[in-house]
Amino acid sequence: MTSEKPGRISGFVSIFYRNWVTLAGFFLAVAAAFAFVLLFAIDLFAHGGNQYMGILAYIVAPAFFFMGMGLVLIGWWMHRRSLARATGGVLPALAVSIDLSRGDHRRQLFFFLSGATVFLLLTAFGSYKTYHYTESTEFCGTMCHTVMEPEFVTYQHSPHARVACVECHIGSGATWYVKSKLSGAYQVYSVIAKKYQQPIPTPVHNLRPAQDTCEQCHWPEKFSGDLVKTYQHFLSDDENTPYTVRVALRVGGGNPANGPVGGIHWHASTSHKVEYVATDEKRQTIPWVRVTDERGNVKVYATEKYRETPPEGEIRRMDCMDCHNRPAHTYKTPNFLVEQAMALGRVDSALPAFKPKAVAALTAEYETVDSAMAGIAASMREAYPDRQTVQGAIEELQRIYRENFFPYMKARWDKYPENIGHKDWAGCFRCHDGEHKTPDAKETIKANDCNACHLFLAQGAGDKLHRIEPFGMPFEHPAGDVEGLLCNDCHTGANQ
Ligand code: HEC
Ligand code: HEC
Ligand code: HEC
Ligand code: HEC
Ligand code: HEC
Ligand code: HEC
Repeated sequence: MTSEKPGRISGFVSIFYRNWVTLAGFFLAVAAAFAFVLLFAIDLFAHGGNQYMGILAYIVAPAFFFMGMGLVLIGWWMHRRSLARATGGVLPALAVSIDLSRGDHRRQLFFFLSGATVFLLLTAFGSYKTYHYTESTEFCGTMCHTVMEPEFVTYQHSPHARVACVECHIGSGATWYVKSKLSGAYQVYSVIAKKYQQPIPTPVHNLRPAQDTCEQCHWPEKFSGDLVKTYQHFLSDDENTPYTVRVALRVGGGNPANGPVGGIHWHASTSHKVEYVATDEKRQTIPWVRVTDERGNVKVYATEKYRETPPEGEIRRMDCMDCHNRPAHTYKTPNFLVEQAMALGRVDSALPAFKPKAVAALTAEYETVDSAMAGIAASMREAYPDRQTVQGAIEELQRIYRENFFPYMKARWDKYPENIGHKDWAGCFRCHDGEHKTPDAKETIKANDCNACHLFLAQGAGDKLHRIEPFGMPFEHPAGDVEGLLCNDCHTGANQ
């Protein structure tokens, strides 16, 4: 019966040269496939590579390929419609009959099957590569270049510089992959339509819970014990008087099998939960906290206003990110950055009152990075007209600016609260401020007991700093007694 329809396969093939839409689509797809193979080879063999190579190879080329295939189908559909019109509404049957005893049919079938196999292999391989590429740090960090620049640059100077963006922002599993691609598609649209906010708002509300991200690498029950940290400061006087604090942070742990449960990581223990309600967008005001222990006993601590009725809002379970909210994108404070440059000898510490002048130069409002570079140079030259060494300081401050200030996105330290301590932001004192009490006001979340969280091992400068007090000493605030005030009432990261 097949011999009755000898031309079917060639009839099918013939639409390629009868229909320009199909023909154009076919050439587009072939060209895109070649481009993909070529770009892939370059990406594979070229070391270092160009950041746009990936976008071309794994996004643009496949897009053109599928566009081409789409055109082939549209053309084919148009071709059938015109055939139908010509034959008065009778569409030719779709069935293709093949007679394997015929040499030309065997040849055409062979070409068709090899073509289909190459096509399938190419799409399978291509989509695998595209999947990986869209998960890469390069893609996340550079696709929307200027928009993500602040996050990408600060990430490269963070302890997680070798951890891919997706490890924290997406994690594993198909649902989160699809979710992220949907919100990613919206983000691409908002970049093109310039609908994004400057700076990108934080906290990220749809961020995946820490159990699925941070805790895939960090084990919350680990016992860390004490962690010694040294903070090198300089006062704002003409002598740049050093003032160093050495503290032993009681990080502790969260599992009795590994060590005593307690210390700072007590909040992250799996045996009980700490929940809270924040009344502001940035989670900086927390008037209500609830602790449920391993036996199910519940204790609520609240500020006076909310002791009777809790505030409205989402009850959030505290996790790693409520303290470590900037593990990868740390916009360091100008106060810290200038002190660090002084401590490392990267600037001349003989320039009188260097800290306040440098901080003022860094924090002035600049529209662009270029105007900041000029502004920093001008104000430092004006501050130290007769000092040769100011040139080195200018270069250092310009480097600091480029890595921590992003005028285009309006991203800098004061836009992104850092919750780990309590000096420049409320941080721990959002709850540990002495105002959070049980309804009967008998119990308070530990507050003025500085030693609950850390011991001061040494402080000051010179000889004084070399005498370590293993059981801790009282803190001597360099500007006198500050009883009853919160540190961030005065310290903002820019002035002191
Ligand atoms: C170690 C985990 C981690 C890695 C790696 C990481 N991020 Fe983040 N990212 C976070 C956390 C945590 C937040 C802030 C969450 C909050 O405050 O709600 C955040 C916030 C953001 C924000 C919102 C704006 C902001 O600064 O708060 C963007 C955009 C972002 N990250 C992009 C990236 C990109 C791009 C990469 C890779 C170059 C990356 N992240 C890598 C953990 C990470
Ligand atoms: C893919 C694995 C991975 C993930 C996911 C991850 N981290 Fe890490 N983290 C690391 C590694 C590795 C280090 C150690 C870096 C080093 O010391 O060189 C580290 C270091 C840290 C440190 C110590 C930083 C310091 O200053 O030394 C903290 C705190 C931390 N991570 C918190 C987090 C938080 C919070 C998250 C979730 C938002 C997270 N990590 C997600 C691998 C990861
Ligand atoms: C109550 C706030 C808080 C919570 C919640 C918290 N941390 Fe920490 N963590 C700290 C503080 C404070 C330090 C001391 C280091 C510092 O100040 O930078 C620390 C230190 C660390 C370190 C470095 C210690 C070491 O052994 O090297 C890692 C890693 C870490 N945290 C991971 C986590 C992870 C993962 C979680 C969630 C399971 C978590 N933290 C939850 C406050 C917290
Ligand atoms: C959301 C509120 C909240 C925040 C934010 C918070 N804590 Fe707590 N913390 C609590 C509550 C509630 C307790 C239990 C009551 C108590 O022991 O006073 C507690 C207890 C502690 C304890 C005693 C644990 C033990 O051994 O029993 C330490 C230490 C501590 N917190 C340190 C910190 C540090 C450091 C930070 C900041 C990095 C911080 N907390 C941030 C609510 C909070
Ligand atoms: C709820 C826990 C907690 C309490 C209570 C607490 N601190 Fe801290 N403090 C911390 C943490 C956590 C850090 C480390 C921050 C970091 O990693 O940068 C810190 C750091 C510091 C530093 C070094 C910061 C710097 O930049 O020099 C000083 C000084 C300090 N605390 C003073 C005090 C004094 C004084 C008190 C008592 C009035 C006090 N703290 C009470 C948790 C606490
Ligand atoms: C009444 C305002 C005020 C309060 C509250 C306050 N400070 Fe200060 N602090 C100052 C001033 C002023 C200086 C001196 C600044 C200088 O000379 O640069 C200073 C200097 C410091 C320094 C050394 C210099 C520097 O820039 O870091 C540290 C560390 C410090 N304070 C920590 C704290 C801590 C921790 C708290 C909370 C327990 C706190 N301060 C509360 C006003 C305050």
